Amino acid sequence: MTQKMSAFGKPFETLAEWLSEAEKKELNDPTAMALATVNERGMPSVRMVLLKGADENGLVFYTNLESRKGQELRANPNAALLFHWKSLRRQIRVEGAVEPVTPEEADIYFASRARASRIGAWASKQSSEMEGRFEFEAAIAKYTAKFGAGDIPRPDFWSGFRLKPKYFEFWNDKMFRLHERKTYTLNDNESGWAQGEIYP
Ligand SMILES: Cc1cc2nc3c(=O)[nH]c(=O)nc-3n(C[C@H](O)[C@H](O)[C@H](O)COP(=O)(O)O)c2cc1C
Repeated sequence: MTQKMSAFGKPFETLAEWLSEAEKKELNDPTAMALATVNERGMPSVRMVLLKGADENGLVFYTNLESRKGQELRANPNAALLFHWKSLRRQIRVEGAVEPVTPEEADIYFASRARASRIGAWASKQSSEMEGRFEFEAAIAKYTAKFGAGDIPRPDFWSGFRLKPKYFEFWNDKMFRLHERKTYTLNDNESGWAQGEIYP
């Protein structure tokens, strides 16, 4: 693996470039990414979430804090993200630990969501067993009546996480499976990225 030092911004610049190309080409949800978490027994689980912010501080997504992922991240903040864009034949792997976003950030994002989505956040006990769909519909009706035409505050069980990357891999499709894999590993003192390349 060749090691070269690169400017701190480099992996985030490439992430931004690839995201913007995906936004032009991908049919649905270009910011969708798989989020892998690990439970207390070391068992991994993975699901899709939407990227809602990305800069040098990290990659942000929002969810129900009592969901399976929320509980797993509370027990073990180490996580991995994966973007895959079929239209571009590219993937990006990101690894690091998550930390909660600030309540102010979560409030701003929550307020930007459609009214029905905000009611849904109140009504959904994400990842808990339900008796049937009627139970969920009754909860939606309850919160729709409760909030009427007024403000819908963010539930305290709903917020976001910011994954602070320690490792990136940018995978680019090449002919005959001779793909390109560029890696960036954060230095121990977190002052820069070691750039490398690995076999496909
Ligand atoms: C394209 C796509 C985007 C999604 N985005 C989110 C999201 O941003 N936040 C979220 O909580 N769930 C999102 N979901 C639903 C999750 O994949 C998952 O079903 C849910 O969060 C419960 O996961 P858990 O039981 O592992 O906590 C998305 C699903 C898909 C297919």
